[in-house]
Amino acid sequence: MNQGNGRFVTVEGIDGAGKTTHLHAIEQAWRDAGREVVRTREPGGTPLAEALREMVLHQPMDALTESLLVFAARRDHLVNVIEPALARGAWVLCDRFTDATFAYQGGGRGFAFGVLTQLEQWVQHGRQPDATILFDLPPEVAAARLRDARMPDRFEAQDTAFFERVRQGYLHRQAADPARFVRIDADQPQDAVAHALIAALRERGLA
Ligand code: TYD
Repeated sequence: MNQGNGRFVTVEGIDGAGKTTHLHAIEQAWRDAGREVVRTREPGGTPLAEALREMVLHQPMDALTESLLVFAARRDHLVNVIEPALARGAWVLCDRFTDATFAYQGGGRGFAFGVLTQLEQWVQHGRQPDATILFDLPPEVAAARLRDARMPDRFEAQDTAFFERVRQGYLHRQAADPARFVRIDADQPQDAVAHALIAALRERGLA
């Protein structure tokens, strides 16, 4: 699917899984290897998509509206940032992507997977990450980590039952496409998680 030597890697997990620290490590490893790195995030990554992110994270709305907005943001991001970067051979590291929609809107909010699958096809035309790192851990552990964090957004304010459904949404996506996913056990000390991550990336030629 990729032209040239570009790579598209996404990083996922429930809120509190600790992905931010590890995103930085991946970015640094790629830069050290001399790659052109495009680090970005969803919802977001373009001025329009960042404006949509603000709405999705802070304004009440139903699950269909939420799904349409995250896919609208994704479309703008793909067309203006991700596809051009891959076409010139850059390595794209994206903090969340479509698996988050299946996990949060599908699993967490209970919105129809079938509709999300259709939106995915319209928006992505078959584009999928080359690899998706899933930081997986029990929601109670993630909640304890988040407890002292800044003001929660609409999602972070949800209870552990919501995050258990989000987690199951992720695991469902992994089961549907196991070759794409790297599941990392995030319920261990940070350096153990970092080791597991680097080993997994090396194994796939992504470090
Ligand atoms: P997050 O990635 O956790 O960023 P930060 O570390 O700055 O809080 O926040 C994004 C939130 O948006 C997260 O709670 C998951 C949610 N989200 C969706 O609900 N659907 C989506 O499709 C995406 C990409 C994210």
